[in-house]
Amino acid sequence: MRGFVVGVVVTLLLLACGGFLVANRGWFPIGADNAPGAIEKRVANMAMDAYVDGHAPRQDNPVQPTPSALSDGARNYEMHCSLCHGGEAQRISSMRAKFSPPVPQIIDRIPGDPDANLWWVVKHGIRMTAMPSWDGILSDQEIWQVVAFVKHSDKLPPEAMKAWKEAAGVQ
Ligand code: HEC
Repeated sequence: MRGFVVGVVVTLLLLACGGFLVANRGWFPIGADNAPGAIEKRVANMAMDAYVDGHAPRQDNPVQPTPSALSDGARNYEMHCSLCHGGEAQRISSMRAKFSPPVPQIIDRIPGDPDANLWWVVKHGIRMTAMPSWDGILSDQEIWQVVAFVKHSDKLPPEAMKAWKEAAGVQ
């Protein structure tokens, strides 16, 4: 039993020393032009999904997808989000792979998650990625509108499409 405990302690110490060495000797590639590894991606996505599922409000989107709400959402989306997530002028952002992890193109591939999960992610952001927290920059209501816009971006009524094009400077 004593040998087992010593073995566990030595293994933990070796792992800690290994981690310290990798960081201290500059062996961990920190450049954003290094894509995350498969294990890192898997663990990070699992942690994010579990956390968001546990913390997103249990409710539907309180914003009705009216042409006017979708137009407001389009304007805020184009102003704040299109650089990374793609917009009306450039559906796939050229910044897509300039971050690590790369940015999902949510206009090109609309996420299937519930609106409340997307609302939580936009409000709080995602640590250790380029996704900022928009809390205090956009109001809760504006975030719900942006989420409604993203979810309807492939079937916008003409008024909202016009607002989006104008915001993007596309005629
Ligand atoms: C500086 C770049 C950047 C900006 C600006 C940005 N995001 Fe993000 N966003 C990201 C990155 C990177 C991720 C992916 C994080 C990850 O891998 O978990 C992300 C993730 C998301 C997700 C989750 C997508 C999914 O499939 O789960 C949503 C929704 C989202 N962003 C919406 C927005 C909205 C809305 C705005 C504007 C208000 C915005 N983002 C602005 C970089 C950005």
